[in-house]
Amino acid sequence: MNDEIILQAKQMSMLFPGTLALDRVDYRVWRGKVNVIIGENGAGKSTLMKILAGVQQPTSGEMWLNGQRVAFSSTRDAARHGIGMVHQELNLFENLSVAENIFLGREIQRGLRPINEAEQRRRTAALMQRLDQPIAPDEKVGNLKVGQQQLVEIAKALAEDADILILDEPTSRSVKPKSAFCSG
Ligand SMILES: Nc1ncnc2c1ncn2[C@@H]1O[C@H](COP(=O)(O)OP(=O)(O)O)[C@@H](O)[C@H]1O
Ligand SMILES: [Mg+2]
Repeated sequence: MNDEIILQAKQMSMLFPGTLALDRVDYRVWRGKVNVIIGENGAGKSTLMKILAGVQQPTSGEMWLNGQRVAFSSTRDAARHGIGMVHQELNLFENLSVAENIFLGREIQRGLRPINEAEQRRRTAALMQRLDQPIAPDEKVGNLKVGQQQLVEIAKALAEDADILILDEPTSRSVKPKSAFCSG
């Protein structure tokens, strides 16, 4: 196996009731590269990405990660293998802070002690610095712009040490013009 290829889908098919969303798709993810999937609405892009991130299980086909055959039963399972995903729809809680969102469901805590909020804030600040974003860990997500909320989602995936970060339509929400026009 070519070690430039970190993740590979082979003959991946996904049959929803009445819809064949994927029909024996082959896809390769190259190490250290930005890999892009382009296709019209309904082409099956989100479905393929969800399978690679463990959200959905394919009807048939194989997945290979670093030369090993894998099958993900859940997003947790995929995360353990270093795969994180930012969805087309944001999955954040607007009434919680940036740090609380990033560590939701895997809070930094030992035994019966309270959540180590200081450590969560510190790690969040480090992630924001890595993303070059001046977003305060204590800011409520509802106060952020949509583009910033998306960065919080990316930080969430990075906080789980994702080696492969899957972004579904990363530019679809950042720009929301009230009107549009074109010249020419
Ligand atoms: N959970 C689902 N149940 C039934 N049909 C689905 C489901 N998810 C996607 N589909 C269908 O599968 C096809 C591919 O969808 P999708 O992967 O979202 O395409 P894309 O992201 O390229 O726009 C579409 O026809 C869509 O309606
Ligand atoms: Mg889609």
